[in-house]
Amino acid sequence: MINQEHKRIVTGDRPTGKLHIGHYFGSLQNRVKLQDEYETFILVADVQALTDNFNNPEKVKQNVREIVMDNLAVGLDPNKSTIYLQSMVHEVAELTVFYSNLVTIARLQRNPTVKTEIAQKKEVFGESVTYGFLGYPVSQAADITALDGTLVPVGEDQLPLIEQCREIVRKFNSIYGETLYEPQAYLGENKRIKGLDGNEKMGKSLGNAIYLADSEEEITQKVMNAITDPARIKKDDPGNPNICMVSYYHNLFSNKEEQEAVCSECRAGKRGCVACKRQLAKNMIEALRPIRQRRKYYEERPEEVKEILMEGTKKAQKIAAGTMERVKEAMKLDYFKN
Ligand code: TRP
Repeated sequence: MINQEHKRIVTGDRPTGKLHIGHYFGSLQNRVKLQDEYETFILVADVQALTDNFNNPEKVKQNVREIVMDNLAVGLDPNKSTIYLQSMVHEVAELTVFYSNLVTIARLQRNPTVKTEIAQKKEVFGESVTYGFLGYPVSQAADITALDGTLVPVGEDQLPLIEQCREIVRKFNSIYGETLYEPQAYLGENKRIKGLDGNEKMGKSLGNAIYLADSEEEITQKVMNAITDPARIKKDDPGNPNICMVSYYHNLFSNKEEQEAVCSECRAGKRGCVACKRQLAKNMIEALRPIRQRRKYYEERPEEVKEILMEGTKKAQKIAAGTMERVKEAMKLDYFKN
């Protein structure tokens, strides 16, 4: 029943905040690269965002537009890629119910991503997690399969979710017959970016991120506050670039020559941190300029952003309706058909 040649990307983000350069290096740049080769669907996962923000629907609503603009800003071309709203593809909710029979509670509790997130979200869930949050991998499996996704470019933290989706698909197909596509995760060039404070992760809640939407002034100000070698007090003290976040970011945003000069002059105590930071801020501002400019274009055209999301959602709805027909037939839920 399924076509082995079929290829389609499905991936997306929870609209809980603006995207930052950690997202860019971790997954967004892959999306942009792949859109020329694959039919690409990017979902704005508003229902999933509610699983841990159920008491803050306003936050989710406000961030839908931000996420769409971030995706457009990095270079996703609305003529090539489809951006759509998860909550308006009703088949996703329906599939989630069907799939929930195919996954055990113990398996969800063992999912490493879910486990880590539950531990981090004590302030939301207290001692007992909701059914909805524990089950979000099931709804993510529905996101991917509703659209017949075959390739899912994601950051590393998402791998256990894709694995769980694959298990659900195999179980479904073994019980009801070959109906669903088994997707593959795609890591590609996936760099995990540390925060400005040296934290292993760049994150909104950690206050250590550079956002795609940040202005030149904000970038400069954040870079000027980045963590450097704490043992280096005076400009001519020899520094250790290996423990300096400014040097770390020079390696991402500056050319080879500059990177080498930064390191050797720092070690020799010949370059002050302030000069080094100014140079980094300049390079970062330059590198992020096209993203900032595209974002500004869309910020000034809210109707165009809305239109892109509406058109994309219509396209996704059509595909999901086709999947649902196959699924219902396979599950013998097609009473009135014959
Ligand atoms: N869980 C993803 C995140 O937190 C968002 C997401 C929802 C997703 N549905 C998806 C990613 C389907 C890939 C495929 O970023």
